[in-house]
Amino acid sequence: MCYLTAFTNSGAPTVSDTLPSVLISEAEIESRVTELAADISRDYQDKGDIVLIGVLKGAFIFLADLSRRLTIPRTIEFIAVSSYPDSDVSSGAVRLVMDVRGNIEDRHVLIVEDIVDTGHTLAYLTELLESHHPASIRSCALVRKAERAEVDVEVDYLGFDIGDEWVVGYGLDYAEHDRTLPFIGVVKPQDQ
Ligand code: PRP
Repeated sequence: MCYLTAFTNSGAPTVSDTLPSVLISEAEIESRVTELAADISRDYQDKGDIVLIGVLKGAFIFLADLSRRLTIPRTIEFIAVSSYPDSDVSSGAVRLVMDVRGNIEDRHVLIVEDIVDTGHTLAYLTELLESHHPASIRSCALVRKAERAEVDVEVDYLGFDIGDEWVVGYGLDYAEHDRTLPFIGVVKPQDQ
């Protein structure tokens, strides 16, 4: 099995048979996801069913684990976005790749993200989904890089705050590598 443990200055992934170093263990993730599910179940008790909207691709594992721990009625939707390929990376321009299928009007919506980095994606999604007139809209993210924030966006349910490191695993990738690691690990520039 090959894993990504580093990347070169040009951004090319370097694979090896060594696992990335663990930042957040499988047990820590499991425990925190259970706590988040309990918080969400408590807050939405007696509000009818909620719509969990997972942001592809990165949120697919978190959404699967979180949703199965909820004790309230829920339905699942997915949405996909990407940065504009021809725009400056720092512009934060986001485009919709795939919209939700179901009608979210008058429903309680919870956006489920794997990571909030600059915050542009979550800000874009919140504005987009608000235009569909949901009953309410909140967000849940497994990890957030607070020091990278470029826009002021609320995360209502947060798993972990982390530093400015490139993380993989539990849905997160580097150049599509290592999404299925059971823990969150760190990959580093090769010359560090
Ligand atoms: C990640 C993550 C968020 C977004 C957050 O997606 O899933 O959607 O970045 O970044 P931001 O806060 O700076 O906007 P990514 O573009 O890596 O796509 P992926 O989920 O398909 O891996």
